[in-house]
Amino acid sequence: MIAVLRENYSGPFLSKAKAEITEYLSNSLVSFLVLETKGVVGFVGYAQSWMDWDSYEVFWMNIAKSCQGKGHGRQLAEALIRKLEQRKAQNILLWTDKEDFWGKFGFVQYAPGLMRR
Ligand SMILES: CC(C)(COP(=O)(O)OP(=O)(O)OC[C@H]1O[C@@H](n2cnc3c(N)ncnc32)[C@H](O)[C@@H]1OP(=O)(O)O)[C@@H](O)C(=O)NCCC(=O)NCCS
Repeated sequence: MIAVLRENYSGPFLSKAKAEITEYLSNSLVSFLVLETKGVVGFVGYAQSWMDWDSYEVFWMNIAKSCQGKGHGRQLAEALIRKLEQRKAQNILLWTDKEDFWGKFGFVQYAPGLMRR
């Protein structure tokens, strides 16, 4: 996962991303779905709301730069939605600047930068 971050980010943002993901990995309330072919191609994190168990927040969707544009993002987004639907999610929320990407999977703008499915 860190190798994916290294491909996608640099400088202070990379350090912040590595620290945040490392912390999430030791948090039992957070799960990651990881897409692997020969190695890790990408990942996405999610967590159930503590207040409303039907709601989930999604974060850190990343496909390694060298693997983008090949359908991996679609594969991971669809797998994530299947998983959360199995858990009877009624609301899936995410902050993003890739609204057109998430729009392909039924997400609609809820507030500026925030999407909901
Ligand atoms: C956004 C991201 C996850 C897309 O992954 P990807 O593997 O390149 O996407 P895919 O090849 O599976 O493309 C799936 C579909 O989304 C479209 N798409 C891909 N990137 C897009 C983007 N940035 N904006 C809008 N549409 C996009 C593709 O055209 C494709 O459409 P189609 O299936 O209708 O032909 C990837 O570019 C990424 O990890 N970016 C860096 C981190 C990031 O921005 N994460 C999302 C923030 S929450």
